[in-house]
Amino acid sequence: MTVSTAWQALRKPIRKAVFPVAGMGTRFLPATKAIPKEMLPIIDRPLIQYAVDEAREAGIEQLIFVTGRGKTAIVEHFDTAFELERTLSDRGKDLSILDPTRILPGNLVTVRQQVPMGLGHAIWCARAIVGDEPFAIFLPDELMIGTPGCMKEMVDAYNEVGGNLISVLEVPEEEVSSYGVIAPGARVSDKLTEVTGLVEKPKRENAPSNLIISGRYILQPEVMRTLEGQEKGAGGEIQLTDAMARMIGSQPFHAVTFTGRRFDCGSKAGFVEATLALALERPDMADDVRAIMRRLLAQ
Ligand code: UTP
Repeated sequence: MTVSTAWQALRKPIRKAVFPVAGMGTRFLPATKAIPKEMLPIIDRPLIQYAVDEAREAGIEQLIFVTGRGKTAIVEHFDTAFELERTLSDRGKDLSILDPTRILPGNLVTVRQQVPMGLGHAIWCARAIVGDEPFAIFLPDELMIGTPGCMKEMVDAYNEVGGNLISVLEVPEEEVSSYGVIAPGARVSDKLTEVTGLVEKPKRENAPSNLIISGRYILQPEVMRTLEGQEKGAGGEIQLTDAMARMIGSQPFHAVTFTGRRFDCGSKAGFVEATLALALERPDMADDVRAIMRRLLAQ
């Protein structure tokens, strides 16, 4: 049996997803002083809603939010709002607009990251809930739009190769130093490439490629042990990329190239781009928005 077929035999389904939402969102201050970045809306849905919808499409059952100070609005968003529902219903309004915010009782779990010490530390905070299962990770400020969604494509790939998977995309070389970057190995298929190395925020001249990690992961539970006691990395934070890099060689690791579109909503320009792009696709507002954009551009 090869390493890869042995992993296929051991494969467990992906039922749980971790959403690290304890960051401070400093790039959006002062907007994010009292409102979590993940609750900023692209038109009429907060970023976290897009990520949760993507998770559900991929068959994820349990949602684990790693929260911190000032993040209660995220949990409220997925709670039942009795007064609101009663008022809407008394006014004869359609309540189905709230359907995406409904979660099966028991399927939403929160854990606290008391101090935002980095993405790796945030994931480690979920170790007791993740337990001994492979799990998905979503960074909600990376907005992935496609049919199928990014995580669905990753779960399909996981069902073929097992092990660990990360979604990647190509960026211009001058941008690599802001991201986790992969060293690509053998190409397995159009969408799937082996990963032979990972480095967080490399200098442009040291970057092993221009393929960056784009906010979606499927990882084996061993990553939690690797994160245990890990030293700080780039930016003085405990980096998930460093833990993953240490697992390469002992477990299969693949990169999935997402066929849809990605918007970096952690940056202001990316956020505006996502808003305009999605507005131009909405039948209820595309004409109005196109007219507004034409008018603004003509000024
Ligand atoms: P980011 O670095 O994009 O988010 O982390 P940030 O730190 O909140 O934003 P800026 O850079 O200050 O503007 C990616 C994701 O990881 C979470 C964030 O909430 C975000 O969803 N995160 C980050 C944590 O949960 N804990 C951390 O310690 C760091």
